[in-house]
Amino acid sequence: MAKGPRWWQGATLYQIYVRSWRDTDADGYGDLPGVIAGLDYLAWLGVDAIWLSPTMPSPDEDWGYDVSDYLGVHPDLGTLADMDKLIAEADLRGIRVVLDLVPNHTSSAHAWFIDARSGPGSAHRDYYVWADPVKGENEGGMGRRAEGGGPPNNWLDATGAPAWTLDAASGQYYLHNFLPSQPDLNWWEPGVHEEFREILRFWFDRGVAGFRIDVAHGLYSDAQLRDNPPLERESRLEGRFGQKPVYSSNRPETHGVYRDWRRLADGYSPPRLLLGESWVATLGALASYYGQDDELQLAFNFPFLFAGFDTGAISGVVGETLARLPAGACPVWTASNHDVSRFPTRWCDGDERKARLALLVLATLPGSLMLYYGDEIAMTDVPVPPPLRRDKMTARQRESRDEARTPMQWDASPSAGFTAEGVTPWLPFGDNASRNVAAQREDPASTLRLVRDLIALRRTAFGGQVAAYERLPAPPGVWAYRSGPLLVTANLTDQPVPLPEPADEVLLATGPEAKPGAVLGPWQGRLTRRSRGLPGTAGLPGT
Ligand code: GLC
Repeated sequence: MAKGPRWWQGATLYQIYVRSWRDTDADGYGDLPGVIAGLDYLAWLGVDAIWLSPTMPSPDEDWGYDVSDYLGVHPDLGTLADMDKLIAEADLRGIRVVLDLVPNHTSSAHAWFIDARSGPGSAHRDYYVWADPVKGENEGGMGRRAEGGGPPNNWLDATGAPAWTLDAASGQYYLHNFLPSQPDLNWWEPGVHEEFREILRFWFDRGVAGFRIDVAHGLYSDAQLRDNPPLERESRLEGRFGQKPVYSSNRPETHGVYRDWRRLADGYSPPRLLLGESWVATLGALASYYGQDDELQLAFNFPFLFAGFDTGAISGVVGETLARLPAGACPVWTASNHDVSRFPTRWCDGDERKARLALLVLATLPGSLMLYYGDEIAMTDVPVPPPLRRDKMTARQRESRDEARTPMQWDASPSAGFTAEGVTPWLPFGDNASRNVAAQREDPASTLRLVRDLIALRRTAFGGQVAAYERLPAPPGVWAYRSGPLLVTANLTDQPVPLPEPADEVLLATGPEAKPGAVLGPWQGRLTRRSRGLPGTAGLPGT
């Protein structure tokens, strides 16, 4: 049974892509001392916890998502002593530290894989998924052909190439759902479970507040390695490269791992958080990762992230999420991360009015909020020309993940306040002259100040719990809802909408026209405190 409060409920979490946050040793990459240097800012902003993108040693074929040592700190980012200091300094400011854990695969440079590759009789051979070549339709064409056969099935990796690489020495293929340098772990092997229990304990004992679990829907692969079926329509949620990953991900056995880890996390005081990168197509599948309050406490909602920013789409996903989640489960709302285009670009086309409205919505939905660094200043994607691209996974794709990973825009100086003068950052700066933390901190009308006000408000209104949600009737294109004591009216159209009667109290508005009894301008929203529904809207459609 969990000891202590569920501190993540209603909390504001903040994702830091460490390499892009703040560079203190002038090598062009952000680092752990840089995270420590930014803690006062985060405390001023009001965040409850930070999630750090991978911090463990790695050859960086996938920027830390290819781990070569689960019990260390990447030398480019700092030392274990820096991590301990970060946890202690964050704690002094009331901020908890969540790390990124990658259990679906390791780096091919991990000692387990090096041993596994030494031959079929090696101690760690079964930590990975090996299979003999198969004669048949996968032979030739797709990938390297082995003597006497081809890849064991039709699975494709994250680049669209075959998910199997031939190990010439043993004549067997190994599985990699991502890059060939990221061999998949074999979760049918009990030794792998024991290793990860130890890894969890190692970090939890050090004061880490929890883990964001990479590819949480991955882990197990079908024991019979059956072919994946074709994808009827191309959709980021349902599959890629013409295939539905029915047998290569979201396997039922994965839930057992989280039940085990949850018992372990609940044994700590306060209980440690398990937050899954649950990239699944349906909200029913997402809900399954919460179990019966005995698996993950939070699971990322990709159907929400990929919904269009219009009233029908987004309110539909929110309503269905809340209906599907088991009683008492806490949703987590996020609209940007290091793998997708930032929401101020993807949802808002760089329109600041829309970004402010989106932030109002994100911050007032019941449950936890996860901001991505830069969301609070409405940072947009930054075009990265091909010669400057750093992400191998999307190297040959039209959209590079690099565009959402550029350095934090701290100030208007040539180094953006990210690194020392004259240092070339690992990815190019965006337009830091027109959008940066320093300028927005001074301006009471800025997006940054709006976000800070929203975080303070949500702490009072929701802190420690999942607020009750009710959609209210509203004119077409307007999304009105009650969330705990707050009433949100969001105009997701480019037309002004008259609001017939004054509200009891306007707590906050995203634009100048959203005053009591006035017109709600295009792409504007407001937050009021009122117990009744929206007056003058009887008979209008709602849910
Ligand atoms: C997750 C990470 C992504 C990484 C992949 C493989 O989706 O968020 O950045 O490339 O897993 O680890």
